[in-house]
Amino acid sequence: MFRICVIGCGNMSQSGHGPSFAKYRADYPDVSLAACCDLDGEKARAYRDRFGFAQYYTDYRQMLDEIRPDVVSLISPVDLTCPLAVDIMKRGYDIIMEKPPGKNRAEIEIMDSVAKQYGVNVRCAFNRRYTPLIEALVRRVRASGERLINITYQLYRWHRYDRDFSTTAIHAVDAVKYIAGSDYDTVHLTYDHHPECGENVKNIFLDGTFENGAVFQITLIPLGGAVTERVTVNTVNHSFFVDLPMWENIDVPGRLVEVTDSNHCETVMGDTLVDSTEMFEVSGFYNENRLFFEHLRGGSNEIVNDLQSAVQSVEIEDCIRHSLPLYKKDASR
Ligand SMILES: NC(=O)c1ccc[n+]([C@@H]2O[C@H](COP(=O)([O-])OP(=O)(O)OC[C@H]3O[C@@H](n4cnc5c(N)ncnc54)[C@H](O)[C@@H]3O)[C@@H](O)[C@H]2O)c1
Repeated sequence: MFRICVIGCGNMSQSGHGPSFAKYRADYPDVSLAACCDLDGEKARAYRDRFGFAQYYTDYRQMLDEIRPDVVSLISPVDLTCPLAVDIMKRGYDIIMEKPPGKNRAEIEIMDSVAKQYGVNVRCAFNRRYTPLIEALVRRVRASGERLINITYQLYRWHRYDRDFSTTAIHAVDAVKYIAGSDYDTVHLTYDHHPECGENVKNIFLDGTFENGAVFQITLIPLGGAVTERVTVNTVNHSFFVDLPMWENIDVPGRLVEVTDSNHCETVMGDTLVDSTEMFEVSGFYNENRLFFEHLRGGSNEIVNDLQSAVQSVEIEDCIRHSLPLYKKDASR
C-alpha cells in the first residue's frame, strides 16, 4: 500500500487537494489515504469523513510516528511551510508542499539543503505548472519552433485586502517563468498603493526580460472585481491567448486560442483536455499530486526535487512583499 498523509485541512486542502486525493485513491486501489491532521480536530475529522481518510490527528508528529507514510502533503499557512517542511524531511519523508516554498531565498535554500542531506523527494505544488491549458500552451509554443517574443499575464482578484498579496502573486511570477522556459534576468516592479483599503494593499506591475531575450509584463490587481487569469504569448509568427478557468469564474472551462500570421485560428476548450470540469482537475491540482505520487510509486532511484526551479519565484515574491523596485538575477547562480 502507498500511504498518503496530509498536514493542514484548511481551505485549499479542502478545495484543491482533498478531491484530488479521493480521485487518486479511486483510480489506484493500492493507495491508502492513511491519515490527515489539523490543529483543529473538528476540521481534521470532517476532512477524514469527506475525502475518505482512515484516521485523523491533531499532532502531525504523532501521525508520522504511528503511520510512517510513503508521502506527506503539507498544506499549511505560509509562515509555517519552511519549519514544518524541514521537520518532516528530517524525519525522512518525501513531501509535496503548497506554494510558496518559503517566504524568501533563505527559506527555500534551507529546505533544499535539508532535502539533499536527507535524500528525500520534494515537489513544490505550483498548480499552474500542471494546469492542462498551460501545459497545452507550453507544448504549442515549443512546437512552433519560433523565437519567443513576449508574455503577458493578468491576474485579477476581488476583495483581496491581504496585507501580503505576494503569496498569491507568486502564481503569476512562477507561471510566466515556466512558460518562458528561461530564468528571469531583470524585473522592474511598480506599485499602486491603496492605504485606504488596508495596510500594504496595492496593485502590482512587473515587466522585464528573460535570459533568453523574451520580455514580459505581469499585472496583479487584488481588488479587480473579477477573478481571472489571462495569458498571451507571442512568438515570431504566432499569438497564443489563454483564459484560465479559475474557481467558478467567467472563463470556465477555459480556452486556448492559437493564431498564426496567416490569421489561421485554432481553439482548444479547457474541458476537452480533462475528464471533468471540476476545479481540482482543470486547475492542475490532481496532476501535480498524481505525477509526484507516480514517481514515488514507480520505484525509480532518481530523486525529484524542484525547489531550485522555484528560487527566482520566491525571490521576486519577497520583492513584492517589501515593495522593492528592482530584481536582478544573482550572477553567481
Ligand atoms: N494553489 C493555490 O491556488 C493556492 C490558493 C490558496 C492558498 N494556497 C496555499 O495553501 C496553503 C494553505 O492555505 P489555506 O488558505 O488553505 O490556509 P488555511 O489557514 O485555510 O489552512 C491551513 C490549515 O493548516 C492548519 N495547521 C496549521 N499549523 C498546523 C500544524 N502544525 N499541524 C497541522 N495543521 C496545522 C490550520 O489549522 C489550518 O486549518 C498556503 O501555503 C497557501 O499559500 C494555494
